[in-house]
Amino acid sequence: MKKLIIINGPNLNLLGKREPNIYGSLSFTEFLDKVKDIYKGVAIDYYQSNIEGELIDKLHEVGFTYDGIILNAAAYTHTSVGIGDAVKAIETPVVEVHISNTFNREEFRHQSFISPNAKGVILGFGLQSYELAIQSF
Ligand code: DQA
Repeated sequence: MKKLIIINGPNLNLLGKREPNIYGSLSFTEFLDKVKDIYKGVAIDYYQSNIEGELIDKLHEVGFTYDGIILNAAAYTHTSVGIGDAVKAIETPVVEVHISNTFNREEFRHQSFISPNAKGVILGFGLQSYELAIQSF
């Protein structure tokens, strides 16, 4: 069985409550329950942190044994050289995802420290971005 992990960065614990016009009104736990039910043949772990170093530690922890990492580093996407370097340092392929289309938002969201070392990038499909990433593995 393939072993994947979804890693979510800062403020994504507030999904469902946070700016629902951009991020939708479903909580991530509700969404994850649904997804796990659909993709029964895949083991899907989940980790969320608002802390940059914790996200890096998690990438190190899973980055040599898992089959795939689905990473939404949220705001750290646009600022974190450290998370970008961690993605480069590990062996497990990382698919970068975003719920919103970051390219039709503020200009500072157009920059990503993850993309250059990601296997691929999926953005702008709402929570479905995560499902498309699962299908890519
Ligand atoms: C996001 C886009 C980021 O720019 C933003 O900081 C987030 C969420 C997305 O999934 O659309 O927190 O990564």
